[in-house]
Amino acid sequence: MSGLHAQDTTSQSSGPQHLVTVVSHPLVQHKLSLMRDIHTGPKEFRELAAEVTLLLAYEAMRDLETEAVTLETPIQKGEFPMLAGKKLAVVAILRAGLIMSDSILRLVPAARVGHIGLYRDPETLRPVAYYNKLPQDIAERRVFLLDPMLATGGSAVAAIDTLKAAGALSVKLLSVLAVPEGIARVHASHPDVEIVTAAVDERLNDHGYIVPGLGDAGDRIYGTK
Ligand code: URA
Repeated sequence: MSGLHAQDTTSQSSGPQHLVTVVSHPLVQHKLSLMRDIHTGPKEFRELAAEVTLLLAYEAMRDLETEAVTLETPIQKGEFPMLAGKKLAVVAILRAGLIMSDSILRLVPAARVGHIGLYRDPETLRPVAYYNKLPQDIAERRVFLLDPMLATGGSAVAAIDTLKAAGALSVKLLSVLAVPEGIARVHASHPDVEIVTAAVDERLNDHGYIVPGLGDAGDRIYGTK
């Protein structure tokens, strides 16, 4: 985890093939700490999750292409940058990823939204897809996969498998929290996928929860137990 007085906005580890960006900006860290707090209720947790997502997206979209367009300000005509290049898709892993896709849509309202539903088979413990609805032209879009908790990495890998099978060529994974095990699992299967997160916590416990973590993200967002 980053220190209390983080100077850098982000830190990146490994080479370009195994990229992890930790957004250690003080605002992000402050909001993440509030999310971790057991006393934070669902309403505030949702608002914080949406805000942290916006700040993760800000970093994750740093390399979007722009092109100069001609327009007129009230003062004079000029050339100014506007987004260009591949269009975007955000894909939420159900259910906790929904709060993240809603948030990113406020930033990039033209993005298309996909959903992937996964549950863990109680016998094999492997993720099984129960829902999959993706933009048809996903191969032509830059894809931002949204999974608030990168824990074992099983769901993320299954979701990336699904995205690539559908033709996705460029995938970034945005997670509020990650652990080294999950990062390693994603990069073992998909070394091309950049991971953008607010923190890399210590480890997983025996129940697959991130330690110290923030608990079950879905339960905290929706007030279920
Ligand atoms: N999913 C969660 O919601 N929380 C964890 O700690 C791990 C996986």
